[in-house]
Amino acid sequence: LTLDVASSGGNQSSSLLYGLLYEDIYHSGDGGLYGEMLRNRAFQGSSSNGAASLARNTDYWHPVGGVSLAIDTSSPVLSPSLPYQMRMDVPAGTTGTVGFYNEGFWGFNVDATKRYVASFYMRGNYNGTVDCYFHSNTTDQVLGSSSMSIDQTSSEGWVQTYSTTFQPSMTGSDANNTFYFTFDGSKLAGQSVYFNTLSLFKQTFDNRYNGVREDLADALQNMNVKYIRLPGGNNMEGNMSPYEWKWNETIGPLMDRPGRPGTWGDINTDGFGLLEMMQMSQDLGLEVILGIWAGLYLDGEIISEANLQPYVDSVMNELEFLLGDKSTTYGAKRAALGFPSPFTINWIEIGNEDYLNGGTNSYYSYRFMAFYNAIHAFYPSINLVSTINPNPVTSNGSSLDLHIYGNENYFVSLFNTFDQASRKYPVFVNEYAATNTGSNNAGQVGAQTMGMSCAEAIFLLGCERNSDVIIGSAYGALIKSYNEAPDTVAVIKHTANEILYSISYYVQKLFADNMGTRTLPVTATNGELGPVYWSATANSSSTILKLVNYNGMTGSSNAVHVNIEGSSKTTATLITLTAPSSTSVNNLPSLGGESSTITTTTLSGSSGSFSVSFSKPYEIAIL
Ligand code: AHR
Repeated sequence: LTLDVASSGGNQSSSLLYGLLYEDIYHSGDGGLYGEMLRNRAFQGSSSNGAASLARNTDYWHPVGGVSLAIDTSSPVLSPSLPYQMRMDVPAGTTGTVGFYNEGFWGFNVDATKRYVASFYMRGNYNGTVDCYFHSNTTDQVLGSSSMSIDQTSSEGWVQTYSTTFQPSMTGSDANNTFYFTFDGSKLAGQSVYFNTLSLFKQTFDNRYNGVREDLADALQNMNVKYIRLPGGNNMEGNMSPYEWKWNETIGPLMDRPGRPGTWGDINTDGFGLLEMMQMSQDLGLEVILGIWAGLYLDGEIISEANLQPYVDSVMNELEFLLGDKSTTYGAKRAALGFPSPFTINWIEIGNEDYLNGGTNSYYSYRFMAFYNAIHAFYPSINLVSTINPNPVTSNGSSLDLHIYGNENYFVSLFNTFDQASRKYPVFVNEYAATNTGSNNAGQVGAQTMGMSCAEAIFLLGCERNSDVIIGSAYGALIKSYNEAPDTVAVIKHTANEILYSISYYVQKLFADNMGTRTLPVTATNGELGPVYWSATANSSSTILKLVNYNGMTGSSNAVHVNIEGSSKTTATLITLTAPSSTSVNNLPSLGGESSTITTTTLSGSSGSFSVSFSKPYEIAIL
């Protein structure tokens, strides 16, 4: 195969081509990106058999020293939004240490090089110390502790206590750790005390208050992508009324955030709220595509046209909150919460998968236009994205979000799917994933194989070749807990102290790292598309050719000969992504680690001509 890469004649590429979808799915947010380490910190609901409910319990909390723990609603409650609290009953005659511990989200990361801060609200009589500490269940050791002095009476109502920032004395050997709050039992004997919004944060990404987990944010930053769509995804829609994601219930003090039953089986605390998401996006340097709820619940309930206006008004208030200056009602509210400068929003997606469960007709007949008209009239420069194909409107910067899931073979077949697409209809592929191998349609596999990731790479080549009309692409799902069922594909998975970087993570990172500003035509001779697929782009300093070998030939006798028109270069940088076989998968570091390898070498050639040989039948090479 010989590929002649032209020096001109292509199209402008989208500057946003590689992006992210964030939604809280299987602990992407709570117990994931969101830095809160205590589980069930404010008794906002529970999860059982994969469904989130508003039934309150003390799950993940365990008594210490003979006390009993119970859910309590006696007055005064902490706030109208958090009306349930944990009551600790201390038996008369108690003399020793009492309290409770939390399991965390499948344990805790305890790192002696990092700072932690614990806090809680308490109501009751107590004059004594509270010891907070990590306990390793593996070694039966205290790994780090902090002491606070309290002197309060029940007449004072709720009092918030903060630990001084503390650093653990030892790093945990694993995540099998618990976090304790203990009290002097003799000073509480025969009494009940009440707790709410107990909290523990490790130092966060960019040291933000109420911020995000540092290692996970680093992983996202290292992908080098350009945008993030948030807050969803199906999670924004809610399974049923009235549980759509409501921006105004995710801002301000944590005690004013009631949380909601999430779509994916877990209670969302909404501690990772609108401002925290915007802050994270800003810190990561990502353009935001703001998802707004468009009147469809996942159970098929649809807000009627006559009743839609309050939801449109709510979106307009949200936009004033994000974009208005301090002279506006909601802009002033944002400023009062510590964000004096307005954010920038250039993209808004109206809904998510609004074709689901009978949503199509109402989306076309009134839902889309109600939001579109209101937003466009006030913010004419914001681009609006439809979730159904074709777009209800095709002017004024309107575009479309396609979601593409399927097996590996399907993704290979999509290589040229956009070649003949109308250039009038810009498209985001704001969710895609090869969810199974080969032609297998039986559900999702738990980890992307090298074959699946190569198939996704072939699809991305097709997006890149058409990036005049494909504005962006993002994988679904982005982050999930490694521990929580179901085991589905995700870009990264986390435990309390480790990250699993899928092979697809590296595909996206390499593609985003090596992206031009315009496409270049490529002419093939002595061969055709498949088993090798390609795409060429250029920026002001480099020509970049991406190759995917998909069940192809290896070795120098099967090399791909590349001629770069107009180039006199004698060397090129060659980056390859390989794995032992098409079925190889990556794993957590503690469970075998990664099978994929990235290698960067300098390739010699002459006058802009180079030969690229693959070492594996499934391999990605970027020249
Ligand atoms: O990414 C997982 C889910 O898949 C998203 O919430 C939804 O939009 C899609 O169907």
